[in-house]
Amino acid sequence: EKGRMKGGGKVPFQPIRPSSKDELVLPRGFEYDVVAAWEDDIGSGETFGFNCDLTVYFPIDESSEHGLLWVNHEYTGSGRIFLYPPHTSETKKHEIEQYNLGGSVIEVRKEKGKWTLDKSSRYTRRITANTMIDLTGPAKGDAAVNRAAEVKGTFANCSGGRTLWDTVLSCEENFDSDAKRWGRDLTHYGWVVEVDPFQPESKPKKHTALGRFSHENTAMTLSADGRLVVYMGDDAGNQHFYKYISDGVYRRENGKLNSKLLEKGTLYAADLEKGKWLPLDREKSPELKENFRSQGDVMVRTREAAKMVGATPLDRPEDVEVHPADDSVYLALTNNKSHGNYYGQILRFIEDGNDAGSLEFSFEVFAVGGPQTGFACPDNLHFDRQGNLWVFCDISSSQLNQEGVYETFKNNGAFMIPTAGKNRGQAFQFASGPVGCEMTGPWFTPDEKTLFFAVQHPGEGSEDPASPTSRWPRKDKPRSSVVAVRGFKGR
Ligand code: FEO
Ligand code: CA
Ligand code: CA
Ligand code: CA
Repeated sequence: EKGRMKGGGKVPFQPIRPSSKDELVLPRGFEYDVVAAWEDDIGSGETFGFNCDLTVYFPIDESSEHGLLWVNHEYTGSGRIFLYPPHTSETKKHEIEQYNLGGSVIEVRKEKGKWTLDKSSRYTRRITANTMIDLTGPAKGDAAVNRAAEVKGTFANCSGGRTLWDTVLSCEENFDSDAKRWGRDLTHYGWVVEVDPFQPESKPKKHTALGRFSHENTAMTLSADGRLVVYMGDDAGNQHFYKYISDGVYRRENGKLNSKLLEKGTLYAADLEKGKWLPLDREKSPELKENFRSQGDVMVRTREAAKMVGATPLDRPEDVEVHPADDSVYLALTNNKSHGNYYGQILRFIEDGNDAGSLEFSFEVFAVGGPQTGFACPDNLHFDRQGNLWVFCDISSSQLNQEGVYETFKNNGAFMIPTAGKNRGQAFQFASGPVGCEMTGPWFTPDEKTLFFAVQHPGEGSEDPASPTSRWPRKDKPRSSVVAVRGFKGR
């Protein structure tokens, strides 16, 4: 099948212009359904959480019109003014915040041409900042996590990915401020969390072998010899690009037991100057052996370990995805204002022998943001099966307001960038979000006739809940929502 993929090139829509409207603007012929919005009743006595981010579609019976949708709920931030009246007690505020973060599992269906949520679903589930979660891997029970074998809750769930065995990996990103405000142990957050959406009673797991940092997402693939490889970005200025390689080999027939592969393996950080993956393994590095008490400690203080072995600091590594045809790896560096990189770029890594298990690589700059190319601050990435890269941008609302450098881009947008053909590297705008939002978490159904994504934090930066800068999507208050976009011709 791979041989037939060309890497895209044909643009299947009439590109739109940047927009400042408080609307989700799409090309002619495309429509969207709001599948779930913040506060919606999703069944089982639960409501949909705040600031949705990653969306992952899990087909039921291989259907592209019926499945489960996992949705991350990342943070509350300045949007808190909409969560509760100002006189609410601190305890109550924290309860409301904690319930609204984590993730949702909802069952969705396309009926009479429109996507709707099934409130009577037996899969409906909320994971919150108070759900009990098991630790696995080197840090489980270690002194570095104060001996914890399970921890309370997940939050700051940014992006993530799907495993090869139909579970979701949800990534804890900027957890510090909420963890501090709520009096939580900081070492219990900043991990990758696995949830099985098909088992509502299952206990989620935080896999400490994947390290602890501001996890943006996971991109899972296999090495030439069948081991599991997981690429990950650490979204902070001057942080690193990582990959994890399991000790064991993936076996399809093992189904959900393959999850064990995320418990034993080696975490590497990238050295872009030498083109090498550097192991963060106490047994392989005298320096790490001297400065860390255990491998669990290395996992808890991943950034320090990566710096110690000489990993390359990067301009906020956000989403990373593996190209469906040639297995090269695309990484979004969103920006780094500390040295004047306002617009970001997308790098493309080629592992030696095109083997994800290789410890050497080369890279090139695939696309650079800026007024000339039309996009800025690339964040979430997603490939369609033709090999077109879908790029969702995140120019933060404070930057938008303060600095002329972002003016021409208007509201945050989503773009398609072909990776081959005459349009290689050129950005075509597909969507423009409502005021103050970023669009996140794109995911196609298998037939690629529907694209799910989240409209996150519309109205961010509003100072008075009575006069928000956005009233999308229901003309009352701004509500972060998941939409299903229809109009694609499909595969
Ligand atoms: Fe939550 Fe890195 O964006
Ligand atoms: Ca992001
Ligand atoms: Ca992605
Ligand atoms: Ca971002």
